[in-house]
Amino acid sequence: MSQIHFIGAGQMAEAMLRAAISRGQMAPACFTLSDINAQRVTELQAQYQLPSPMSDEQAIVDADYIVIGVRPQDDIASVVAKISQLNQSATVVSIIAGVTLATLSQLFGGNRPIARIIPNTLTDTGYGYSGAVLNELVQKEPLQPFLESFGKVMYIDERMLDIFTGFGVAGVNYVYYFIESLVDAGVLAGLPRPQAKDTVYENLVGAVEMLKISGKHPRQLLDINNSPAGVGMHGLFELNNSDFAASLQRSVLAAVRRTTELANE
Ligand SMILES: NC(=O)c1ccc[n+]([C@@H]2O[C@H](COP(=O)([O-])OP(=O)(O)OC[C@H]3O[C@@H](n4cnc5c(N)ncnc54)[C@H](OP(=O)(O)O)[C@@H]3O)[C@@H](O)[C@H]2O)c1
Repeated sequence: MSQIHFIGAGQMAEAMLRAAISRGQMAPACFTLSDINAQRVTELQAQYQLPSPMSDEQAIVDADYIVIGVRPQDDIASVVAKISQLNQSATVVSIIAGVTLATLSQLFGGNRPIARIIPNTLTDTGYGYSGAVLNELVQKEPLQPFLESFGKVMYIDERMLDIFTGFGVAGVNYVYYFIESLVDAGVLAGLPRPQAKDTVYENLVGAVEMLKISGKHPRQLLDINNSPAGVGMHGLFELNNSDFAASLQRSVLAAVRRTTELANE
Protein backbone atom coordinates (compact mmCIF):
# COMPACT_ATOMS: atom_id res chain seq x y z
CA MET A 1 0.00 0.00 0.00
CA SER A 2 1.51 3.33 -1.05
CA GLN A 3 1.81 6.02 1.58
CA ILE A 4 0.70 9.42 0.36
CA HIS A 5 1.47 12.59 2.22
CA PHE A 6 -0.17 15.91 1.36
CA ILE A 7 1.63 19.17 2.13
CA GLY A 8 -1.12 21.78 1.99
CA ALA A 9 -4.42 20.26 3.08
CA GLY A 10 -6.79 22.65 1.33
CA GLN A 11 -9.91 22.20 -0.75
CA MET A 12 -8.28 20.26 -3.56
CA ALA A 13 -6.37 17.92 -1.24
CA GLU A 14 -9.59 17.16 0.61
CA ALA A 15 -11.49 16.58 -2.65
CA MET A 16 -8.83 14.10 -3.80
CA LEU A 17 -8.64 12.07 -0.60
CA ARG A 18 -12.41 12.20 0.00
CA ALA A 19 -12.98 10.72 -3.47
CA ALA A 20 -10.26 8.08 -3.06
CA ILE A 21 -11.66 6.93 0.29
CA SER A 22 -15.39 7.20 -0.42
CA ARG A 23 -15.06 5.36 -3.74
CA GLY A 24 -13.25 2.56 -1.90
CA GLN A 25 -10.15 2.95 -4.04
CA MET A 26 -7.76 3.69 -1.19
CA ALA A 27 -7.79 3.13 2.57
CA PRO A 28 -7.73 6.11 4.96
CA ALA A 29 -4.49 4.64 6.37
CA CYS A 30 -2.76 5.54 3.09
CA PHE A 31 -3.06 9.27 3.72
CA THR A 32 -1.27 11.69 5.98
CA LEU A 33 -1.53 15.48 5.89
CA SER A 34 0.33 18.56 6.92
CA ASP A 35 -0.69 22.18 6.63
CA ILE A 36 0.30 25.56 8.04
CA ASN A 37 -3.06 25.40 9.78
CA ALA A 38 -2.76 22.52 12.28
CA GLN A 39 -6.45 22.79 13.15
CA ARG A 40 -7.35 22.01 9.54
CA VAL A 41 -5.26 18.82 9.68
CA THR A 42 -6.88 17.72 12.95
CA GLU A 43 -10.34 18.27 11.49
CA LEU A 44 -9.62 16.29 8.32
CA GLN A 45 -7.99 13.47 10.30
CA ALA A 46 -11.13 13.17 12.43
CA GLN A 47 -13.53 13.48 9.50
CA TYR A 48 -11.86 10.86 7.30
CA GLN A 49 -10.33 8.71 10.06
CA LEU A 50 -6.81 9.32 8.84
CA PRO A 51 -3.78 8.27 10.87
CA SER A 52 -1.99 10.89 12.98
CA PRO A 53 1.74 10.44 12.48
CA MET A 54 4.30 11.16 15.23
CA SER A 55 5.21 14.35 13.36
CA ASP A 56 4.97 16.01 9.94
CA GLU A 57 8.64 15.17 9.46
CA GLN A 58 8.04 11.46 10.11
CA ALA A 59 5.12 11.43 7.65
CA ILE A 60 7.36 12.93 4.96
CA VAL A 61 10.09 10.38 5.69
CA ASP A 62 7.57 7.50 5.41
CA ALA A 63 5.86 8.71 2.23
CA ASP A 64 6.12 7.06 -1.20
CA TYR A 65 4.28 9.99 -2.80
CA ILE A 66 4.31 13.56 -1.58
CA VAL A 67 1.55 15.75 -2.94
CA ILE A 68 2.29 19.47 -2.95
CA GLY A 69 -1.14 21.01 -2.50
CA VAL A 70 -0.22 24.62 -1.73
CA ARG A 71 -1.17 27.60 -3.95
CA PRO A 72 1.11 29.11 -6.59
CA GLN A 73 1.66 32.20 -4.40
CA ASP A 74 2.67 30.18 -1.30
CA ASP A 75 6.26 29.54 -0.25
CA ILE A 76 6.87 26.60 -2.58
CA ALA A 77 10.66 26.82 -2.13
CA SER A 78 10.37 26.12 1.60
CA VAL A 79 8.09 23.14 0.94
CA VAL A 80 10.61 21.77 -1.57
CA ALA A 81 13.48 22.33 0.90
CA LYS A 82 11.65 20.37 3.59
CA ILE A 83 10.93 17.45 1.27
CA SER A 84 14.51 17.41 -0.03
CA GLN A 85 15.91 17.36 3.49
CA LEU A 86 13.71 14.49 4.71
CA ASN A 87 13.02 12.20 1.80
CA GLN A 88 15.26 11.86 -1.26
CA SER A 89 13.33 9.17 -3.11
CA ALA A 90 9.58 9.84 -2.88
CA THR A 91 7.80 10.80 -6.07
CA VAL A 92 6.53 14.36 -5.86
CA VAL A 93 3.02 14.99 -7.16
CA SER A 94 2.45 18.70 -7.69
CA ILE A 95 -1.09 20.00 -8.16
CA ILE A 96 0.06 23.63 -8.22
CA ALA A 97 -1.43 25.29 -11.28
CA GLY A 98 1.10 26.95 -13.57
CA VAL A 99 4.31 25.71 -11.96
CA THR A 100 6.14 23.73 -14.63
CA LEU A 101 8.09 20.49 -14.37
CA ALA A 102 11.21 22.43 -15.33
CA THR A 103 10.72 24.86 -12.41
CA LEU A 104 10.01 22.04 -9.98
CA SER A 105 12.98 19.99 -11.21
CA GLN A 106 15.22 23.01 -10.78
CA LEU A 107 13.95 23.56 -7.24
CA PHE A 108 14.56 19.90 -6.40
CA GLY A 109 17.99 19.99 -8.03
CA GLY A 110 17.20 17.34 -10.66
CA ASN A 111 17.06 13.58 -10.02
CA ARG A 112 13.56 13.66 -8.52
CA PRO A 113 10.55 11.84 -9.94
CA ILE A 114 7.93 14.56 -10.37
CA ALA A 115 4.35 14.32 -11.63
CA ARG A 116 2.35 17.44 -12.43
CA ILE A 117 -1.37 16.87 -12.03
CA ILE A 118 -4.29 19.19 -12.72
CA PRO A 119 -7.21 17.49 -10.97
CA ASN A 120 -10.75 18.41 -11.95
CA THR A 121 -13.59 19.21 -9.58
CA LEU A 122 -15.62 16.07 -10.35
CA THR A 123 -13.44 13.92 -8.08
CA ASP A 124 -16.40 12.55 -6.08
CA THR A 125 -18.08 11.16 -9.18
CA GLY A 126 -15.21 9.25 -10.76
CA TYR A 127 -15.95 11.15 -13.98
CA GLY A 128 -13.75 13.84 -15.46
CA TYR A 129 -10.10 13.78 -16.38
CA SER A 130 -7.12 14.96 -14.40
CA GLY A 131 -4.42 16.26 -16.72
CA ALA A 132 -1.10 14.56 -15.96
CA VAL A 133 2.49 15.20 -17.02
CA LEU A 134 5.31 13.04 -15.69
CA ASN A 135 9.03 13.58 -15.86
CA GLU A 136 11.15 10.71 -17.13
CA LEU A 137 11.97 9.50 -13.60
CA VAL A 138 8.38 8.73 -12.60
CA GLN A 139 7.23 5.12 -12.66
CA LYS A 140 3.77 5.38 -14.15
CA GLU A 141 2.32 2.03 -13.13
CA PRO A 142 2.57 2.30 -9.33
CA LEU A 143 1.36 5.93 -9.45
CA GLN A 144 -1.69 5.14 -11.57
CA PRO A 145 -3.97 3.68 -8.78
CA PHE A 146 -3.63 6.89 -6.76
CA LEU A 147 -4.34 9.12 -9.77
CA GLU A 148 -7.33 7.00 -10.78
CA SER A 149 -8.71 7.00 -7.24
CA PHE A 150 -10.09 10.53 -7.82
CA GLY A 151 -11.12 10.29 -11.48
CA LYS A 152 -9.79 9.43 -14.88
CA VAL A 153 -6.30 10.39 -16.03
CA MET A 154 -5.28 11.99 -19.31
CA TYR A 155 -1.55 12.09 -19.97
CA ILE A 156 -0.80 15.10 -22.11
CA ASP A 157 2.09 17.11 -23.42
CA GLU A 158 3.01 19.76 -20.85
CA ARG A 159 2.64 22.56 -23.39
CA MET A 160 -1.05 21.59 -23.64
CA LEU A 161 -1.67 21.76 -19.89
CA ASP A 162 -2.99 25.34 -19.86
CA ILE A 163 -5.37 24.45 -22.67
CA PHE A 164 -6.43 21.36 -20.77
CA THR A 165 -7.04 23.51 -17.66
CA GLY A 166 -9.11 26.21 -19.39
CA PHE A 167 -10.99 23.75 -21.58
CA GLY A 168 -11.15 20.54 -19.55
CA VAL A 169 -10.88 21.36 -15.87
CA ALA A 170 -12.94 24.56 -16.21
CA GLY A 171 -15.14 22.65 -18.68
CA VAL A 172 -17.62 21.47 -16.13
CA ASN A 173 -18.55 25.12 -15.46
CA TYR A 174 -19.76 25.54 -19.04
CA VAL A 175 -21.87 22.43 -18.58
CA TYR A 176 -23.38 23.71 -15.32
CA TYR A 177 -24.15 27.00 -17.03
CA PHE A 178 -25.72 25.22 -20.01
CA ILE A 179 -27.86 23.10 -17.69
CA GLU A 180 -29.03 26.18 -15.78
CA SER A 181 -29.92 27.97 -19.01
CA LEU A 182 -31.76 24.98 -20.45
CA VAL A 183 -33.76 24.35 -17.26
CA ASP A 184 -34.73 28.03 -17.30
CA ALA A 185 -35.84 27.60 -20.91
CA GLY A 186 -38.19 24.80 -19.87
CA VAL A 187 -39.56 26.97 -17.07
CA LEU A 188 -39.92 29.91 -19.45
CA ALA A 189 -41.94 27.71 -21.76
CA GLY A 190 -44.21 26.75 -18.85
CA LEU A 191 -42.88 23.49 -17.38
CA PRO A 192 -42.61 23.30 -13.56
CA ARG A 193 -38.94 23.59 -12.50
CA PRO A 194 -38.58 20.06 -11.02
CA GLN A 195 -39.80 18.49 -14.26
CA ALA A 196 -37.67 20.84 -16.34
CA LYS A 197 -34.62 19.89 -14.28
CA ASP A 198 -35.26 16.13 -14.50
CA THR A 199 -35.76 16.39 -18.24
CA VAL A 200 -32.52 18.28 -18.78
CA TYR A 201 -30.45 15.90 -16.60
CA GLU A 202 -31.83 12.89 -18.43
CA ASN A 203 -31.31 14.44 -21.87
CA LEU A 204 -27.75 15.40 -21.01
CA VAL A 205 -26.65 11.98 -19.76
CA GLY A 206 -28.67 10.23 -22.49
CA ALA A 207 -27.16 12.37 -25.26
CA VAL A 208 -23.63 11.45 -24.17
CA GLU A 209 -24.60 7.76 -23.99
CA MET A 210 -26.22 7.98 -27.44
CA LEU A 211 -23.05 9.48 -28.93
CA LYS A 212 -20.97 6.72 -27.34
CA ILE A 213 -23.29 3.85 -28.27
CA SER A 214 -23.90 4.99 -31.84
CA GLY A 215 -20.34 6.18 -32.49
CA LYS A 216 -21.96 8.91 -34.60
CA HIS A 217 -20.93 12.55 -34.88
CA PRO A 218 -23.37 14.94 -33.11
CA ARG A 219 -24.29 16.39 -36.52
CA GLN A 220 -25.39 12.94 -37.73
CA LEU A 221 -27.70 12.55 -34.74
CA LEU A 222 -29.05 16.07 -35.33
CA ASP A 223 -29.81 15.13 -38.94
CA ILE A 224 -31.64 11.99 -37.80
CA ASN A 225 -33.64 13.89 -35.15
CA ASN A 226 -34.62 16.88 -37.29
CA SER A 227 -37.32 16.12 -39.83
CA PRO A 228 -38.24 18.60 -42.59
CA ALA A 229 -40.01 21.71 -41.22
CA GLY A 230 -40.17 19.93 -37.85
CA VAL A 231 -40.02 21.06 -34.24
CA GLY A 232 -36.30 20.41 -33.74
CA MET A 233 -35.28 22.18 -36.95
CA HIS A 234 -37.21 25.29 -35.94
CA GLY A 235 -35.45 25.30 -32.59
CA LEU A 236 -32.06 24.82 -34.21
CA PHE A 237 -32.70 27.66 -36.64
CA GLU A 238 -32.93 30.11 -33.70
CA LEU A 239 -29.75 28.68 -32.19
CA ASN A 240 -27.99 29.06 -35.55
CA ASN A 241 -29.07 32.71 -35.56
CA SER A 242 -27.46 33.27 -32.17
CA ASP A 243 -23.82 33.57 -31.20
CA PHE A 244 -24.04 30.33 -29.22
CA ALA A 245 -21.10 28.35 -30.62
CA ALA A 246 -18.74 31.32 -30.95
CA SER A 247 -19.62 32.55 -27.43
CA LEU A 248 -18.79 29.17 -25.99
CA GLN A 249 -15.54 29.04 -27.92
CA ARG A 250 -14.58 32.58 -26.84
CA SER A 251 -15.27 31.59 -23.21
CA VAL A 252 -12.90 28.65 -23.47
CA LEU A 253 -10.21 30.80 -25.08
CA ALA A 254 -10.60 33.37 -22.26
CA ALA A 255 -10.19 30.64 -19.64
CA VAL A 256 -7.10 29.26 -21.38
CA ARG A 257 -5.61 32.78 -21.60
CA ARG A 258 -6.29 33.35 -17.91
CA THR A 259 -4.61 30.05 -16.99
CA THR A 260 -1.45 31.18 -18.77
CA GLU A 261 -1.65 34.67 -17.21
CA LEU A 262 -1.92 33.18 -13.71
CA ALA A 263 1.06 30.94 -14.35
CA ASN A 264 3.14 34.00 -15.25
CA GLU A 265 2.01 36.25 -12.37
N1 LIG B 1 -9.41 24.22 -6.71
C1 LIG B 1 -9.28 23.71 -7.94
O1 LIG B 1 -10.23 23.52 -8.69
C2 LIG B 1 -7.91 23.32 -8.43
C3 LIG B 1 -7.84 22.54 -9.56
C4 LIG B 1 -6.59 22.15 -9.99
C5 LIG B 1 -5.46 22.54 -9.29
N2 LIG B 1 -5.56 23.33 -8.20
C6 LIG B 1 -4.34 23.72 -7.49
O2 LIG B 1 -4.37 23.06 -6.23
C7 LIG B 1 -3.62 23.84 -5.30
C8 LIG B 1 -4.43 23.96 -4.04
O3 LIG B 1 -5.64 24.63 -4.33
P1 LIG B 1 -6.78 24.67 -3.24
O4 LIG B 1 -7.99 25.20 -3.92
O5 LIG B 1 -6.86 23.38 -2.51
O6 LIG B 1 -6.16 25.80 -2.25
P2 LIG B 1 -6.40 25.98 -0.68
O7 LIG B 1 -7.73 25.45 -0.29
O8 LIG B 1 -6.09 27.42 -0.37
O9 LIG B 1 -5.30 25.04 -0.02
C9 LIG B 1 -3.95 25.35 0.14
C10 LIG B 1 -3.58 24.98 1.57
O10 LIG B 1 -2.16 24.99 1.72
C11 LIG B 1 -1.85 25.63 2.96
N3 LIG B 1 -0.46 26.10 2.91
C12 LIG B 1 0.03 27.24 2.37
N4 LIG B 1 1.39 27.27 2.46
C13 LIG B 1 1.76 26.13 3.08
C14 LIG B 1 3.00 25.57 3.49
N5 LIG B 1 4.16 26.22 3.26
N6 LIG B 1 3.01 24.37 4.11
C15 LIG B 1 1.85 23.71 4.35
N7 LIG B 1 0.64 24.19 4.00
C16 LIG B 1 0.58 25.37 3.37
C17 LIG B 1 -2.88 26.70 3.06
O11 LIG B 1 -2.98 27.21 4.38
P3 LIG B 1 -3.47 28.76 4.58
O12 LIG B 1 -4.77 28.90 3.85
O13 LIG B 1 -3.57 28.90 6.05
O14 LIG B 1 -2.39 29.61 3.96
C18 LIG B 1 -4.14 25.95 2.62
O15 LIG B 1 -4.72 25.23 3.68
C19 LIG B 1 -3.32 25.17 -5.94
O16 LIG B 1 -1.95 25.22 -6.29
C20 LIG B 1 -4.18 25.19 -7.20
O17 LIG B 1 -3.51 25.85 -8.25
C21 LIG B 1 -6.77 23.70 -7.73
